[in-house]
Amino acid sequence: MNNSRNILIAPSVLAADFARLRDELARVEKGGAEWLHLDVMDAHFVPNLTFGPFIVEAIRSLSDRLLDTHLMITDPVGYAKRFVDAGSDLITFHIEAVEDPVDAIRSIKDTGAQVGISIKPATRVDVLFPLLSELDLVLIMSVEPGFGGQRFMPDSLDKIRALRNEIDRCGHRTLIQVDGGINPETAKLVREAGVDVIVAGTAVFRADDPAQAIAALRE
Ligand code: DX5
Ligand code: ZN
Repeated sequence: MNNSRNILIAPSVLAADFARLRDELARVEKGGAEWLHLDVMDAHFVPNLTFGPFIVEAIRSLSDRLLDTHLMITDPVGYAKRFVDAGSDLITFHIEAVEDPVDAIRSIKDTGAQVGISIKPATRVDVLFPLLSELDLVLIMSVEPGFGGQRFMPDSLDKIRALRNEIDRCGHRTLIQVDGGINPETAKLVREAGVDVIVAGTAVFRADDPAQAIAALRE
């Protein structure tokens, strides 16, 4: 197993205390988080509603970390530019939300952002293989998207392994990200399976010591 991989940690701001957002972000940044993961939900693609570009803009004003924006919305192509204008660096959309993924990738790339695609637990990973050369990132959901604090689904490990093989075999530079139910135990499993970027909400923002929590996910 490739354990020498450089793991990036992307705390999911969904689990932060929004009344103290400035302090919360400072704590995880000081704790070593490379990215910030922003969960955008529209109460249509998923049964929950979170925030839009207005909050992304506020987060942008508080942080210089890469803003990794996970769009769990029905119309990612229509809204991507608004998030990029608000400060998002990377836009990840769900393949289940679009008719033509290649078209969606290209139109989001035109906004100047990096592009990722995510798959829900029921979606096969091999649908992504023909798209890898166009993608900066692939996000494997290890819970049903919609809520933080759920239990990790071990089926996601096979998807990560298959993706790792395909990316390495073809020499793509696409990063593999995993999101949902990550704690120090499941982090070890996904690292061994070959991920590059770990998203964690509860495990980081609800920890007494975010720096220690982040270190535990990495090592
Ligand atoms: C779920 C979101 C996740 C979630 C992760 O739909 O995409 O990013 O906030 O939260 P935890 O780490 O608590 O499972
Ligand atoms: Zn997410």
